[in-house]
Amino acid sequence: MFEATVVTSASKSDFYADLNKQLGGLLASERDLMANAANFSSLVFLLLDNLNWAGFYFSRGNDLVLGPFQGKPACVRIPVQPSPRGVCGNAAFHRKTFVVENVHEFPGHIACDSASNSEIVIPLIVDDVVLGVLDIDSPLLARFDDEDRVGLEAMVATFVLATDFTPVSFLHG
Ligand code: SME
Repeated sequence: MFEATVVTSASKSDFYADLNKQLGGLLASERDLMANAANFSSLVFLLLDNLNWAGFYFSRGNDLVLGPFQGKPACVRIPVQPSPRGVCGNAAFHRKTFVVENVHEFPGHIACDSASNSEIVIPLIVDDVVLGVLDIDSPLLARFDDEDRVGLEAMVATFVLATDFTPVSFLHG
């Protein structure tokens, strides 16, 4: 069984390098989207401090729809096209990571959990297609900085390489 190891690295970049290595191990034996997204959100929620929510939204038509996550129940559907809503919708629409120091100052922020004060949203992009976003919230103001962005973007790259985004096939009786 996989055992997540608490990382006590001296620097943030070492911390993320270690976490990314653990993620690679965690995802090595499975390519299923739901399984890998669920374990990724669990690892992040367990090992990053001061979080209240960590998880995924996946692209469904013009919207993002809630995927596996850790934290309180969240809003299910977030518009991206033609007018993006919230931090997630904007990260998907503009195809770039959004680091928000104070969510209360972000126009159109969607407050799923009133405890959230800062947020980072990283888009999942493969072959120019936005497949979804990784969304992480914190009760602290300015919890995420550029080193978090670099570290989490590297982890998203690991996740995308280790995972199949093809449609789920169901068993028919
Ligand atoms: N705050 C996000 C919505 C998702 S929840 O935080 C889980 C946003 O503004 O897009």
